[in-house]
Amino acid sequence: MAVAEFTTPLDLEKIRADFPILARPVHGKRLVFLDSAASSQKPRQVIETLVDVYETSYANVHRGVYYLGARATERYEGARDIMTGFVNANDRREVIFVREATEALNLVAYAYGRTFVGPGDAIVATEMEHHSNLVPWQFLAQQTGATLHYLRLTDDGSLDPDSQQRLAAIENVKLVAVAHVSNSLGTINDIPALATWAHERGAVLVVDGAQAAPHRPVDVQALGCDFYALSGHKMCGPGAGILWGRAELLEKMPPFLTGGEMIRTVSLEKTTWNDLPWKFEAGTPAIAESIALGAAAQYLQGIGMEAIEAHEHALTAYAYDVLDGISGVTQYGPKPPNRAGILSFNVGKVHPHDVAQVLDSEGIAVRAGHHCTQPLMRRFDLQATTRASVYLYNGRDDIDALALGIEKVKRTFSV
Ligand SMILES: Cc1ncc(COP(=O)(O)O)c(C=O)c1O
Repeated sequence: MAVAEFTTPLDLEKIRADFPILARPVHGKRLVFLDSAASSQKPRQVIETLVDVYETSYANVHRGVYYLGARATERYEGARDIMTGFVNANDRREVIFVREATEALNLVAYAYGRTFVGPGDAIVATEMEHHSNLVPWQFLAQQTGATLHYLRLTDDGSLDPDSQQRLAAIENVKLVAVAHVSNSLGTINDIPALATWAHERGAVLVVDGAQAAPHRPVDVQALGCDFYALSGHKMCGPGAGILWGRAELLEKMPPFLTGGEMIRTVSLEKTTWNDLPWKFEAGTPAIAESIALGAAAQYLQGIGMEAIEAHEHALTAYAYDVLDGISGVTQYGPKPPNRAGILSFNVGKVHPHDVAQVLDSEGIAVRAGHHCTQPLMRRFDLQATTRASVYLYNGRDDIDALALGIEKVKRTFSV
């Protein structure tokens, strides 16, 4: 079988040199890190930003009138400006710093959901969602008396148009929630089309961008969605993320968490809320982490999101063909080119934990399990898969090492 040719616009050697951890051997072997979908590695530029914040500019934000307070605030709000550009938001007030995508989605479920979804209303999610974009809606439905419906999947792991057709008849849909890219299958969803579908029903579209924003250009205005969640730790940053939301919706929403910083005035009887975006940033934020998230976004933009996407696209096509050529390997999800850099597979009947352990002995890091998508696993009658996910620092040598590792798995377990 012909294997897709791999060419890349990236200078892989230069990029790898930015990531100190990639130079550290694991079990005496070169580290082959293929688990960026869970959390990515960090470049020196981000690590140095964290150190620099603590060494030169750290204080609490929005409070101190002294030099360091002003400097920290300037850098924190500067990071918001960078993230505004990163997702091409119309207005910096629409960018809220959160801990990660999970918090962003819960913010929407609590502040939007509990205000605008009620008994008799409907919520639509999909069968491919990560638990972080499923459990909040299930809980919202339970708490409000709304019903939750699911868009189902075809056998190749795409959204089933027939299922969408069937759900079209449902009335009072208030909210549609979908992943931009599936973390288990690499499916890329057509967000502009889903936004139109949601808006035709008078619903808002919430997009879980955790597996998309690190890997491809994101333009929330062009996508046409209403909320977009991302996690910084999956895009070369530390533990901070953002929720982007349309200003007119954020304005109408009550706060999520309450306390310091999100207020304008407080009396013993009554509190009024701060302006956007601070209305949704209660308490002391993750200051250095948010600033370093800005550095991560700048790092990725410096390389070019289009180039990163093209690199992963080519590497995924190559990897898919390589795995396809190994007897006993079953892959799940759409065939390239219609998939992102996530490869889910099984090796014969070997448990994915055993696969991952043998691969680890070769210095190869992959994820094994249900990937926080238990309903998706059930849809394909699976308990678990092994998942290899690629990023800007992976190359053909990583995929070739994976293939050799899988051959070792097969020898070990007589597949
Ligand atoms: C598609 C998707 N959504 C949400 C999440 C949750 O991300 P976090 O744990 O950073 O909140 C993940 C994490 O793997 C994910 O892959």
